[in-house]
Amino acid sequence: MSKFGNDKVRPLISEERIQQRIKELGQEITKEYQDKAEPLVLIGVLKGSIIFLADLCRAIDLPVELEMMGVSSYGEDTKSSGVVRITQDLTRPIAGKNVIVVEDILDTGLTLQYLLENLKARNPNSLKVCTFLKKDIEQKVNVPIDFLGFTIPNEFVVGYGLDVAERLRHLPMLGVFEGVHQ
Ligand code: IMP
Ligand code: MG
Repeated sequence: MSKFGNDKVRPLISEERIQQRIKELGQEITKEYQDKAEPLVLIGVLKGSIIFLADLCRAIDLPVELEMMGVSSYGEDTKSSGVVRITQDLTRPIAGKNVIVVEDILDTGLTLQYLLENLKARNPNSLKVCTFLKKDIEQKVNVPIDFLGFTIPNEFVVGYGLDVAERLRHLPMLGVFEGVHQ
């Protein structure tokens, strides 16, 4: 038995490349916020962003606060439904703070669009988006991305936080899901 169980995964981005890119993102974010007086809050979107958030926050050379927000599209489908619901809310107000929403992947953009509208209403000092992945497709809705890890082909990917029916989040690399061995 390995980490993969019966799942077939084709490697797409190695652990080394991921870690290198996160160092760079940490530097970008550090540079952008180092002269700002307001507290910096990273809001990770459950559950896909937890691994990315854990690495990213340690690559930022500034004081940061961490929050999690539970937002999920319904079902265990491999397609986004566009139906979003909040399953867990923030523990503290974000009014007057600099907020970065940390997402695993931008696919249709529907989840993020919903989340940004919701967070904007809470009056943060600033609101930006950092996503680990973006699919190379025209998003259904236009969401501005401020910090981006990688653009990937339009395939269903797993690992580094991303799941298929809750499996494979714990892979240190990213791969394309190719089904289950019979
Ligand atoms: P969106 O609302 O279509 O942008 O997709 C949002 C969510 O769908 C992401 O945060 C992921 O949890 C999930 N998702 C989209 N594409 C993939 C994928 O290729 N692999 C795993 N999860 C995905
Ligand atoms: Mg998922």
